[in-house]
Amino acid sequence: MQQLRELKINELSELAAMDARTNATPWSLFNYQQSAEDPTHNILGLFVDDILCGACVYSQVLDQAEILQLCVGYEHQRKGYGYLLLDSVCTELKKYAASQIFLEVMVGNISAINLYQKLGFNVINTRKNYYNVNGKYKDALIMARELV
Ligand SMILES: CC(C)(COP(=O)(O)OP(=O)(O)OC[C@H]1O[C@@H](n2cnc3c(N)ncnc32)[C@H](O)[C@@H]1OP(=O)(O)O)[C@@H](O)C(=O)NCCC(=O)NCCS
Repeated sequence: MQQLRELKINELSELAAMDARTNATPWSLFNYQQSAEDPTHNILGLFVDDILCGACVYSQVLDQAEILQLCVGYEHQRKGYGYLLLDSVCTELKKYAASQIFLEVMVGNISAINLYQKLGFNVINTRKNYYNVNGKYKDALIMARELV
């Protein structure tokens, strides 16, 4: 059974551990805790048979929304969960009158870029040397989509 719901504070350490195993630019537990305290942020988790398989952190201020983090556990990837999470976030944001959604993704993160393009996001800009992965600087693509 699949369930999408807000993560509870005591589930954030599990999310941070999954992110650390999966993501080239993971958030720490502290990052997630700070995010949970921010009233403009939401942390939506996807549970399958009560197992946390992925999560998406997003924010909304007035009609502008942003995807801040997205992660599907390594062992749960390529089952459509990333798509389900992000599509659900877009649907939720539309209900709250968001009109545009933005995100940043590292150049070369083909899985994520393909996923975002599949959901209608387009590259609108590049940020040079935005990420530092093991001492190497990588550019970020800024992607956006209208929520109509
Ligand atoms: C990016 C990520 C969230 C995708 O999650 P997922 O559940 O595996 O993706 P889905 O199964 O929903 O796939 C949806 C689409 O994404 C793209 N995609 C996903 N994995 C891919 C891969 N390994 N190679 C190429 N495209 C891929 C495809 O377009 C796919 O559609 P298709 O199945 O019709 O080809 C996951 O790989 C992840 O957590 N990566 C590490 C963290 C990360 O990079 N997050 C993004 C930070 S900006």
